[in-house]
Amino acid sequence: MDVAKVEDIIGDFVNLKRRGVNMIGLCPFHNEKTPSFIVSPAKNIYKCFGCGKGGDPVRFLMEQENYSYPEALKNLASRYGIEVEEIQVSQESIEERKALDDLFALNQYAYEYFIDQMFNTDMGKSIGLGYFKERGFREETIKKWGLGYAPDKKNDFTLAAINDGYQEEQLKSIGLSTQYSSDFYRGRVMFPIRNLSGKIIGFGGRILAKGAKAAKYLNSPDSDIYNKSKVLYGAHFARTAIRKQDECIMVEGYTDTLSLHQAGIENVVAPCGTSLTSGQIRVIKRYTPNITFIFDGDAAGKKAALRGLDMVLEQDMNVKLVLLPDGEDPDSLLQSLGVVKFEEFVERNKKDFILFKTEHLMEEAKDDPTKKAAMIKEIIASIAKIPDPIKRSVFVKECSSITSTQEQLLFNEINKHLHVELKKRREKKSRTTSNEEAPFPPEENFPTLENGEAPPLPVIQEKPKSSGDEFQEKDLVRLLVEAGTIVMIEEEGITVSQFILNNIEELLNDFDSEIYADVVRECLDKFNQGEILSSNYFLHHKDKKIRDLALGFMASPFEYSPNWEEIHGLTLQTQKAPEENFLNDTLSSVNRFKLRKVLKLLKKNQDKLQSTTDSSETIKTLKVQQRLTEMKKELAAFFGSVIVK
Ligand code: CTP
Ligand code: MN
Repeated sequence: MDVAKVEDIIGDFVNLKRRGVNMIGLCPFHNEKTPSFIVSPAKNIYKCFGCGKGGDPVRFLMEQENYSYPEALKNLASRYGIEVEEIQVSQESIEERKALDDLFALNQYAYEYFIDQMFNTDMGKSIGLGYFKERGFREETIKKWGLGYAPDKKNDFTLAAINDGYQEEQLKSIGLSTQYSSDFYRGRVMFPIRNLSGKIIGFGGRILAKGAKAAKYLNSPDSDIYNKSKVLYGAHFARTAIRKQDECIMVEGYTDTLSLHQAGIENVVAPCGTSLTSGQIRVIKRYTPNITFIFDGDAAGKKAALRGLDMVLEQDMNVKLVLLPDGEDPDSLLQSLGVVKFEEFVERNKKDFILFKTEHLMEEAKDDPTKKAAMIKEIIASIAKIPDPIKRSVFVKECSSITSTQEQLLFNEINKHLHVELKKRREKKSRTTSNEEAPFPPEENFPTLENGEAPPLPVIQEKPKSSGDEFQEKDLVRLLVEAGTIVMIEEEGITVSQFILNNIEELLNDFDSEIYADVVRECLDKFNQGEILSSNYFLHHKDKKIRDLALGFMASPFEYSPNWEEIHGLTLQTQKAPEENFLNDTLSSVNRFKLRKVLKLLKKNQDKLQSTTDSSETIKTLKVQQRLTEMKKELAAFFGSVIVK
């Protein structure tokens, strides 16, 4: 935990930008357009202010990679070179993990088998390796990508795997053997498919025999370790380049991906034998909002471009498109042009998707007005998918000039779509229970309507205001969690928690909130045993409610604007930054809490005074009244008289 840097761990998955002392990025756990995912390197935690998820590096790996707690720890340990000694693990999780590990191991086994076949058998060398070389793949590329060869045998591989201890069921479950226990891949060159961390999760196999009737490519089926709709071929090797260049190039095939990488264009991925899914787009979105599709220039390529890309717009990606000359794919064009000219070609022909669609459809409609109207509607439907209103309005303007249609008409058409969308979203929202912890309004921008018509206001449901002292109690607990171990009065070595606990111990039973009282009680118990609880203790508390509470305290999206210092030359003169200023913070929090309680007791006492007739009781009550009034005065003096009426 001490060495794990939250920004490093998360940086592998999310494009983080520095913002003052924090870092910010798009949350990997929900779909958002404006970043609300905050990482605090200083506190070593992350928190999404959109969906509420948050925690430390371990929790992140658990959420992101679906690891169990021990798995996440092991992953961190191996990353930072720390040896883990095993003592005992739960039987169930051992078995689950082992089952998956076995599948990964089996894929790794197959991977090595296919490589061995290609480099160390005559057929492999002449047919498999020969094929790749003939296509222009260099040996280093072949090795880096782990390309291989599956011999044209009935069940050689299956038997070898079983002989080496794998189960037939396992072979079938990840599609290495057919249901009749023969080899699934026969006489094919093999493209291993990796997940983001580089483990082999599946294969694509290309047929070699010319004119064969079988499918050109065979692909692994979905399995416990392979979910096609979330995997992109090459993502493991491409992700660093994608982030660096802030652009992802999407091609259609395995060989295209390889070929571009080999030429040094490394921000390239492809779907693995499926059509594009929104899950795949979200993988890319973690690294960049900019995506460029390279499609074959034939009719099929154009069609694919027009069909699949609205979905990408919907995810607020900036979509560009390059159409290749008829009959070429990225691989072949690169081979014939060379990398410099290829890149020039791509730059020159890169077209914004919406504009491409507009021009293309207009060309198709030619001078047929009915057709033209229908086409414009189609274009508008695409533009309406773009969540960002400013971008939308830019596109409407462009579209208006290309199609020579009045802007206003186009805006009206867009608004129709937006209203439908809005209604759908509202209905969805009212069906799902709202996330009540979210301190920010939902991240979705309600669309502004460009033609001046005011959009209906979103319905904001107000939380009932609490009537008790939860607010003051929460503030105390915040200090206990955040700063309990900090020494606030140096001369006497008194810590924040000691000070608070001493002051409020006897009020513990007057807490209005159960959970805050629980935390205080726990602090007190531990304190009496000589232990002062740290924020880490709460961040890793066994009770999720308390963990989340701690996280809420520790992660703040707010901080001092550096502008005050940098631009206005203002520094905080009279006090330290709030996170360091625990003396004042604690004193006022404790006093505020006490004041609330005193006021409450005063009221109670007054009621009692009015209802008692017994004179000795009255005298006692009056004395209490006097003491409480004194306390109130003292406390009021602390805050200045303004606060207390
Ligand atoms: N594909 C598939 N099954 C097929 C044909 C294609 O899964 N029967 C997928 C593969 O992922 C392939 C991609 O679609 O990589 C693009 O197909 P294609 O352009 O035909 O193949 P290339 O990758 O260009 O392969 P090659 O250059 O060897 O023809
Ligand atoms: Mn090709």
